[in-house]
Amino acid sequence: MLQSGVPIHDEPISHDKLLQAAVSASQEAGALLLQYARAGFRIEYKNPINLVTDADRAAEQCVIERIRAHFPTHRFLAEERGRVEKAMSPYLWIIDPLDGTTNFAHGYPAYCVSIGLEYEGRCVLGAIFDPTRNELFTAIEHRGAQLNGRPIHVSTTMTLDSSLLVTGFAYDIRETPRNNLDHFSNFALKAQGLRRTGSAALDLCYAAAGRFDGFWEVRLNPWDMAAGSVIVREAGGQLTDFSGNDLSIYGQELVASNGRIHEAMLAVLNEETP
Ligand code: IPD
Ligand code: CA
Ligand code: CA
Repeated sequence: MLQSGVPIHDEPISHDKLLQAAVSASQEAGALLLQYARAGFRIEYKNPINLVTDADRAAEQCVIERIRAHFPTHRFLAEERGRVEKAMSPYLWIIDPLDGTTNFAHGYPAYCVSIGLEYEGRCVLGAIFDPTRNELFTAIEHRGAQLNGRPIHVSTTMTLDSSLLVTGFAYDIRETPRNNLDHFSNFALKAQGLRRTGSAALDLCYAAAGRFDGFWEVRLNPWDMAAGSVIVREAGGQLTDFSGNDLSIYGQELVASNGRIHEAMLAVLNEETP
């Protein structure tokens, strides 16, 4: 039995082997989500607009069990159970078992399983599986990003005027003045179109695949961003906070774009609002 806090000197493991574990866990958990969607699920309320279902918890259990079966010393940060650390391994799996819970609960088919991996504090790979479209987005650091095994790239759109952008709103939208509505209305007047899909992880994948030109959000969590940030980076995209600093997945603010419209997005995000 491992003691809490005992350093583990895990040998570096091949990224292919790590990604394969993430891919099978995401696909298995995705299949479980579809079973719950068909058979029914129980909803609990974290607050009136923040739901969690037994499908979220079952998918999380599935992902952790599968990955742990391969890598028993690794650490986990998962949305529904927080940090699970048996030892101080350099590997930290960051998991959103169901990104898009509100969509899932309403039968709106835009949700996914998101699994990212940090090695010594740096996100090195990610797998995001959308079970309703059977779309698997993956990336390994320095080796590009793929959708169902085929390379993907960010768009080449040059201006906001011709951009399709996406954003989202946090569950404390009713409580905080930093609710993103100001940015939403500013971008609505400048972009070609604006969407709110309800799954930040898929928003990142779609930016990586060139389906969106840019994505911004305030008050995201690390599990919303970990896997998707590697996928965007590897697809040639740019990721920062609202001040233009390199993205930290622990920093809540995210701007992800094709790079070409990044400065223009930052300018809008930093506009003075009366
Ligand atoms: C939410 C979704 C949504 C975003 C919220 C997230 P959840 O995650 O990604 O698009 O706007 O900020 O919390 O609760 O469905 O896992
Ligand atoms: Ca999420
Ligand atoms: Ca979630």
